[in-house]
Amino acid sequence: MSLEQAKQVAAYQAVDQFVTNNCIFGVGSGSTVVYAVQRLAERVESEKLKVTCIPTSFQAKQLIIKHGLNLGELETNPNIDVTIDGADEVDSNMTLIKGGGGCLLQEKIIASCSKKLIVIADYTKDSVKLGDRYKKGVPIEVVPMAYVPIKNKIISLYGGEIKLRSAVAKAGPVVTDNGNFILDWMFANQNLDWEKVNNTIKLIPGVVETGLFVNMCCKAYFGQPEGNVVERS
Ligand code: A5P
Repeated sequence: MSLEQAKQVAAYQAVDQFVTNNCIFGVGSGSTVVYAVQRLAERVESEKLKVTCIPTSFQAKQLIIKHGLNLGELETNPNIDVTIDGADEVDSNMTLIKGGGGCLLQEKIIASCSKKLIVIADYTKDSVKLGDRYKKGVPIEVVPMAYVPIKNKIISLYGGEIKLRSAVAKAGPVVTDNGNFILDWMFANQNLDWEKVNNTIKLIPGVVETGLFVNMCCKAYFGQPEGNVVERS
């Protein structure tokens, strides 16, 4: 079974388990969520479900529109029942690294407004310690003018290496949906207290959000090479 099929089985299982009639549904970002929206659209059509979808990114909004789903806003739907989102890595404490696709800020806002955050992923995201599997580091969204001092402060606090994320199809940095830059922090120590690290980094002026999701995710579905899905909570 391919990686794409592993993503699909995880996404389908999560949508089947958690989406109910009249629910307010947070739509995550990334390649795995594409399958979740596909499944949601099938269910809405066949079961005549009423679901209001709140996007976590420009990509998520486009997916909702493309599938003819009901698009809602956080302003009018601040209490989300469940959000289904991807992750770059999930450790044994259910701490996540997110933001590989650059959507961490809106993803964290939506997750923080959700009764449940459910992760869907293929088996390569399932790890024991952060950094075991995802080698690109923790994404940190920052106000553009502050990226150099922020970079220096994080290195002096925790070491490692930091790269300003650059765009592939454009010369220069990646600019997020919110007009910010992204620093990718390749941490050197895998045994950090991630809650503390998250809180400390967030206090540095100019940091908008980190891709560390601590104590937010209640369940993860990992699609396996054999076609089954492993659930973790
Ligand atoms: C988007 O910024 C990310 O947080 C994604 O949710 C994460 O990178 C997982 O993406 P994939 O489903 O494409 O692996």
